[in-house]
Amino acid sequence: MSLVIDNIGLLVTNDPERGEGPLGIVRDAALVIEGERVASIEPAGAAGDERLDAGGRCVIPGFVDSHTHLVFAGDRADEFAARMAGRPYEAGGIRETTAATRAASADELRALTERRRGEGLRAGITHVEIKSGYGLDVETERRLCEVAAAFTDDVTFLGAHVVPAEYEGRADDYVDLVCGAMLSACAPHARWVDVFCERGAFDADQSRAVLEAGRQAGLELRVHGNQLGPGPGARLAVELRAASVDHCTFLDDREIEALAGSETVATFLPATDFSTRQPYPDARRAIDAGVKVAIATNTNPGSSNTTAMGFCIALAVRDMGMTIEEAVAAATTGGAAALRRDDVGRLTPGARADAAILEGTSYADLVYRPGVPLVSSVLARGRLI
Ligand code: NIG
Repeated sequence: MSLVIDNIGLLVTNDPERGEGPLGIVRDAALVIEGERVASIEPAGAAGDERLDAGGRCVIPGFVDSHTHLVFAGDRADEFAARMAGRPYEAGGIRETTAATRAASADELRALTERRRGEGLRAGITHVEIKSGYGLDVETERRLCEVAAAFTDDVTFLGAHVVPAEYEGRADDYVDLVCGAMLSACAPHARWVDVFCERGAFDADQSRAVLEAGRQAGLELRVHGNQLGPGPGARLAVELRAASVDHCTFLDDREIEALAGSETVATFLPATDFSTRQPYPDARRAIDAGVKVAIATNTNPGSSNTTAMGFCIALAVRDMGMTIEEAVAAATTGGAAALRRDDVGRLTPGARADAAILEGTSYADLVYRPGVPLVSSVLARGRLI
């Protein structure tokens, strides 16, 4: 059975060899889908077993959200309100979510995750990475990885999110647990290992120990770094050839240069800087230096309680110096690069048939009409949802 999305006014393929400009735009197009994959791109009017008329609208690849913490219980609305009244963001709030998450059953966590995943999917996110990190004991971290694995094959083990209360003053003992029993319990359910390398969380040596143990266990590497101030995260990510270093709010010239010459993607999380009242990263400087970049939502109850990638794109353009095209690319093919995937984030033959049909005729509306729900239909693995 083939499905044809016909009468597409403007199709973003993300393949510059296939169409105009960096987004590889094809006008008056039809997208032919067979099963879960894109079969071909044709002029409008192509035949198929089933036909969906896009009515001249813009179709983009589904968003690839390469940084989320979707599995958690409870919320931290009070902390957010206090922050809006002037209190600074502190990594310690993670412990509050840890208490609520430890108390939740696997069924409760699955239901909460399903609700959040559905919200993002309806807003055009067709692929997600999901981290653990609110369990911080062996059994709960394993449970979070198992729940996450029901939603994605990009599960990240983040036992090294912060030091839990019961290990206060004994961070090295906690790192031993993360690198030992916790990693053994979680690795079978995960593809990635991550660490929050930041003052108030884990230092460079502790972070290195976690990442090297994860690599030994067969996991690939990602790093949270340079979020709350300058720090060693970005340098460590480059040195260990991590797929991505995420946040990058504070990068100096040498870190930008190191990233530019590396295989590590800099993933920006602008909704976090919005919601923690931090400065925004200078994406322009990074892109001009040749750094590969992505944008992700960082959905979590503390620093970024949103699944709205359109909002993140608007912030990236308004406040980080990205062009609209760069921001759309960063949220699609950039996210795919941060997850070292080439099956998502583009609409070209062989790719997963994941797409968002927008309300309007241009992807620019994502920035021009901020806050408006602009995704009218979503196609995930060739199925309309
Ligand atoms: O990416 N930075 C560390 N982890 C999350 C924050 C989680 C929280 O505050 O609960 C982040 O922003």
